Amino acid sequence: MCGIIGYVGADEVVPVLLDGLRRLEYRGYDSAGMAVMGADEIGILRAAGKLKNLEQKAYHEPLHGTAGVGHTRWATHGAPTEANAHPQTDAEGLVAVVHNGIVENYVSLRKELQEAGVDLQSDTDTELIAQLLGREKGTLTERVLGILPRLEGQYAVVAVYRTEPDVVVAFRNGPPLVVGFGEGENMVASDITALLHRTRRVVFLENGDVAEVRADSVRILDPSGLEVERPVETLDWDAARVEKGGYRHFMLKEIFEQPDAIRNTVLAYLDAERRGVNLDGLGFSAEELSGLRRVHLVACGTSWHACLVGKFVIEELTGLPTEVDYASEYRYRQPLIGGDVLVVGVTQSGETADTLAAMEMAREGGALLATVCNSRGSSSWRLATSRMLTQAGPEIGVASTKAFTTQLVALVLMALALRSVRGLTDATDVELVAELQRLPLAVEQALAIDPELYRDGTEMLADATDSLYLGRGILYPIALEGALKLKEISYLHAEGYPAGEMKHGPIALLQEGFPVVAVAPEGATREKLIGNLMEVRARGAAVLAVSDGDAGGLDHVADLVLPVPRVHPLLQPVVAVVPLQLLAYHVAVELGNDVDQPRNLAKSVTVE
Ligand code: F6R
Repeated sequence: MCGIIGYVGADEVVPVLLDGLRRLEYRGYDSAGMAVMGADEIGILRAAGKLKNLEQKAYHEPLHGTAGVGHTRWATHGAPTEANAHPQTDAEGLVAVVHNGIVENYVSLRKELQEAGVDLQSDTDTELIAQLLGREKGTLTERVLGILPRLEGQYAVVAVYRTEPDVVVAFRNGPPLVVGFGEGENMVASDITALLHRTRRVVFLENGDVAEVRADSVRILDPSGLEVERPVETLDWDAARVEKGGYRHFMLKEIFEQPDAIRNTVLAYLDAERRGVNLDGLGFSAEELSGLRRVHLVACGTSWHACLVGKFVIEELTGLPTEVDYASEYRYRQPLIGGDVLVVGVTQSGETADTLAAMEMAREGGALLATVCNSRGSSSWRLATSRMLTQAGPEIGVASTKAFTTQLVALVLMALALRSVRGLTDATDVELVAELQRLPLAVEQALAIDPELYRDGTEMLADATDSLYLGRGILYPIALEGALKLKEISYLHAEGYPAGEMKHGPIALLQEGFPVVAVAPEGATREKLIGNLMEVRARGAAVLAVSDGDAGGLDHVADLVLPVPRVHPLLQPVVAVVPLQLLAYHVAVELGNDVDQPRNLAKSVTVE
């Protein structure tokens, strides 16, 4: 949710922190701040609003030092004001703290500190951490170890201490923190995008780790203060991938990166002849797989939509009954989990709190646990026994696009792997694998739709306050995803619905000019969908259809058709979502919205 960066080294720290925060701004952007270690005091700058406000402050009130911490916030406790921005300090200004997550015993800690006479300056739970640290004794690391048992909840914290100007201490329980190892400098950040331009050598901290970071050394301790070893990993993402590369927005760049992202994901899992998948039983033993009877897919948001598509794919290809759950619901119901269930946490970030909790629950219940994830080394990655990495590369735009389409592809590959372990492999597999390899080309064609059509589509949607997105079968989740994309970045209300359900309620919304977007490719349910659209037209509503191949009867019912190429029906969702992503993008641009950082949203939802 929030973005954290800490640095100790030889360079002036303010530009380093601002640069890191710029790369992390997608995680939260309602206020920002930094603490800079001066010779005998900690310099603090904070500003409400976007990072550029902090940049201006840093220009007018220059701070100097070679160590410090920075933060960009997505508010939980307290409004996004300057007083609530991070860093927060203790009463004496001894320590400064930046924090991502939620301290759950906030009320009791706040009461305790107030009763002890502490005059709290903000509404944040973060200030409580700073005040607790300020009241401890010893070095910063000792103070951190001292307060750990007092903190309940999910947190990633980086702290600095006035009398140790060359140390930054990071600790986590829940939200991620990664330490980057440089030459004569070391860093810590919420995610690797903030570090990539300085180093590719990183350690992902585990829950309970306390990292004492100095320019020339990093010590990692467990909560009892014992030193622990963590593997240093070398990342293969390169820094250019987190730049806009000439595109106006990250989201647009990422939409156009989909052919490559899909190609890389497919190729990563094909065998040497490229005729089958090479997933080696998904990493489970033959014995574990022999008892497999059911699949549960758990996720949130856009990733949940990928799971809805995955259900069609897995059931059709493997015959395994597949359930899809919102992770936030799964974790609080009593799903029937056991050794005969494969639970797959689908998450681009690998850090979504609800998805992780659902996965933990599955593991405790004895299920086979897998993840489809876009972030190697993330929490879901480390939790799961079986891991499929979507090869989307860093996704900076808050509205997910290439991470989604690569999840769809990964779920098809996973279904093919399950077919192979269940001895079901036949000509279907060879055909699907060939289709998967042609898919990037089809996505390229979908990206090449005449811009004029988007202009007309944008006009239809941008002038309305509500719209309805309809689809049937495997494309019904794509209607949900199209509506979500529009809502997220245009702030216009849109509802996705299975087309057959329209007349059971939403039809009451229809009137002259009301926009209805239909995902309507050729296939078993197209005639039915055309029937639904006739009902729409009869009420004067306007129809925009995504269609493959020959528009068939659609041209009689649609005011506008966005054509996409025809591909294998199980892959059609990948192609059909592309015009809906672009449509949402163009509407948001037309309305003058901040496409990459839409209001109230954050890229990685690390709180429940
Ligand atoms: C929407 C979007 C979100 C995420 C959701 C889950 O564009 O990106 O709905 O899909 O917050 O995030 P991950 O996939 O990281 O678990």
